[in-house]
Amino acid sequence: MSDLLTIEGLRAGYGEAVVLPGMTLSLAEGQVLALLGRNGTGKTTLINSIVGITRRFGGTVGLGGLDLTPMRPDQRARAGIGWVPQERNIFRSLTVEENMTAVAQPGPWTVAKIYEMFPRLRERRNNFGNQLSGGEQQMLAIGRALTLNPKVLLLDEPTEGLAPIIVEELLRAIGTISRAGGLCSIIVEQNAQKILGLADRVVILERGAIVHDAASAALKADPAVLERFLGVSGAAAH
Ligand SMILES: Nc1ncnc2c1ncn2[C@@H]1O[C@H](COP(=O)(O)OP(=O)(O)O)[C@@H](O)[C@H]1O
Ligand SMILES: [Mg+2]
Repeated sequence: MSDLLTIEGLRAGYGEAVVLPGMTLSLAEGQVLALLGRNGTGKTTLINSIVGITRRFGGTVGLGGLDLTPMRPDQRARAGIGWVPQERNIFRSLTVEENMTAVAQPGPWTVAKIYEMFPRLRERRNNFGNQLSGGEQQMLAIGRALTLNPKVLLLDEPTEGLAPIIVEELLRAIGTISRAGGLCSIIVEQNAQKILGLADRVVILERGAIVHDAASAALKADPAVLERFLGVSGAAAH
């Protein structure tokens, strides 16, 4: 299958600081990539560079043959970049339903489909963004990104700071989304164990560069890599 997202020689950062010295990475349709690495290694910067909100010093970002590089973030979103930011950034003065309809584009992911996946959002459809719990906000952030019917779904630490039962629900939903097809995803996660079962492929960053890129099955069989780059106990990996 041909590559959907193509990042080539991307040099990006903030102000005068180069955080990603030269990132090259491609994703095929249907692929689920777990993006791992210790704090401050550039995971969010990579996501933000695909979205178009970092300073670009060089290189390109392409989506199915379309060059996103000259495009603004809103144009990239309409072209198919769905983003669930680390801060969730839901519209606090809009209702749950308005948050989704505000950005919706035609496609298989309708508001009704999102309610099927997250019944709690249907119950809360008329609540305002600022009345939601952290878990509900994250469900809404995912729902909002999906109603855009993206080709690429970027999830930046979607389970961070949430109760285990909510984390389970979110991971289940991310599995459902991946299996539904039609897109590829990048999921940033601090906890490798949580995500290895969901992802096909794992990329580990160190100082803004890829230091490991492998099938997640291979990584599961080689826990020493996790220990080396993430400092987690291989024995706990499953
Ligand atoms: N808005 C910003 N301005 C300047 N430097 C930043 C900004 N955001 C992040 N950085 C720096 O970029 C590096 C990578 O950060 P980040 O991409 O957030 O890492 P991660 O998501 O892997 O924890 C860090 O050194 C961080 O201090
Ligand atoms: Mg981050």
